[in-house]
Amino acid sequence: MIEVEESGASIRAESADAGNSRWLTDYARAGIAMMAEPAESSSLSPAPLISSPLTDQVDLDPLSNSRAELSYAGDSLRTTPMGIRTGSLHRVTGLIYEVRGLPQPIGSLARVESSTGQLMDIESVGFRGDVTLYMGVDQARPLAPGAAVYPLRTPRRSAGAHRSVIEQTSPGVDERLLGRVVDGLGRPLDGRPPVTSSSQDGQRIEINPLTRKLIGEPLETGVRAVDSLLTIGRGQRVGIFAGSGVGKSVLLGMLAGRVAADVVVVGLIGERGREVREFCDDILGPKGLQRSVVVAAPADAAPLARLRGAFYATRVAQYFRDTGRHTVLILDSLSRFGMAQREIALSTGEPPATKGYPPSVFAKIPELVEMAGNSSNEQGSLTAFYTVLLEGDDTNDPVADTARAILDGHIFLSRDLSEMGHYPAIDVERSISRAMPRVASAQHLTRASAFKQMWSKLSRSQDLVSMGAYAQGSDPILDRALAKRDAINTFLRQGMTESTPFSETIERLAQFG
Ligand SMILES: Nc1ncnc2c1ncn2[C@@H]1O[C@H](COP(=O)(O)OP(=O)(O)O)[C@@H](O)[C@H]1O
Ligand SMILES: [Mg+2]
Repeated sequence: MIEVEESGASIRAESADAGNSRWLTDYARAGIAMMAEPAESSSLSPAPLISSPLTDQVDLDPLSNSRAELSYAGDSLRTTPMGIRTGSLHRVTGLIYEVRGLPQPIGSLARVESSTGQLMDIESVGFRGDVTLYMGVDQARPLAPGAAVYPLRTPRRSAGAHRSVIEQTSPGVDERLLGRVVDGLGRPLDGRPPVTSSSQDGQRIEINPLTRKLIGEPLETGVRAVDSLLTIGRGQRVGIFAGSGVGKSVLLGMLAGRVAADVVVVGLIGERGREVREFCDDILGPKGLQRSVVVAAPADAAPLARLRGAFYATRVAQYFRDTGRHTVLILDSLSRFGMAQREIALSTGEPPATKGYPPSVFAKIPELVEMAGNSSNEQGSLTAFYTVLLEGDDTNDPVADTARAILDGHIFLSRDLSEMGHYPAIDVERSISRAMPRVASAQHLTRASAFKQMWSKLSRSQDLVSMGAYAQGSDPILDRALAKRDAINTFLRQGMTESTPFSETIERLAQFG
């Protein structure tokens, strides 16, 4: 029997075979209990008990191929093979930790001990010959050359199934996440107990494109400009594109608070840390939080934590969709997700291609976005909203281009409108919901297009009209638009806390027909 202490928690392993003293105490310091050497199966009972204050008792999986799987209540250790080597830290450059002597597959976690005795989790992101490249998944700690690196978790033997690196090491996903605020690695930020993984852990949900439920039902967002002119369907994936400070986050907040959904999953990825608190307290509030899950990996989180946070939030949303709930995923922002991947890829030596973005960024974005949308589950749906930053208001930003191509709709916000105090600053002309014809009635579509026409006329002839150069009667549509100008603006402008039911929005749209 052995006792292992880690951050106050202890785990205890006990074998039916009293003579089993093969647990290696060396590992105790790294919070890992493991076999000293491959045990002959006969000397070890097939299911020794592991217990800890955080889990109830769990069984050690039956031994096979000299491999024992050990479940541990802490948030990091899941399995350890027997007799595996430890590595040593060989070089640190930028974000990359080069480790010798630990040939772990990409995506595996390891734990390194800092010179001050603190522990730091790292994840392998590549290799160069016999050197494995790792990046921190957590805050960096001062490390010394030769620091010991312990493997934390090796992938389970899977039946040849493809599993993405990210999911493999992701934390658990289940019902208990409702109302919770967690970080990019699934650890609680709200001071409540951790949500440990279920048997679902590590399962990638592949969606056959032919079995995806079609978009056929409108989603009420409570935002008039969206519900009337850019009607969203349940299962649609929409981008909100704008430069900084134009109102992307506020619009997402408006959606989060009042969208018609059973569950709202919010991923705050790479944005200001202050916004996390604001989102939970001011925008969602205690009542809104009850139907929400917030995954926060703000700007100061390690790039891997940001990347994993986005995947984790999406997996959480998938879980609720696949258990029959109408789910809305809100991710702020997709651009920061792309930038996290850029940091990782550049660090591992991938050459930059477009505007400093290496090619893998443009592969990761579709990978993430394709996880959202509907699945074959008939009851559930997953509608996703992603914010996309247009750096310097540049609409040809490579991330924005990629996002626009794969999303089923885009809402552009205009700086001109926001500067005039017109909020939400939705650029009606440039925005489009590709699912709208599927979910809106014929009458609604006609009215929406008539409204858009008036809006376009107004914005295009603004200068002409204000100079007094427009002669009334020369353009009947513009005449009508000018007569209704105030009503149009009142209809489109909406306060942050204001919500309008879908039916009322449609009725109000009719007055412009
Ligand atoms: N609907 C709105 N009503 C009033 N002010 C708004 C609205 N939307 C945005 N703003 C103003 O714009 C600022 C920036 O918005 P924010 O959503 O944080 O921008 P972004 O996320 O695009 O950088 C807000 O702090 C707020 O003052
Ligand atoms: Mg923002």
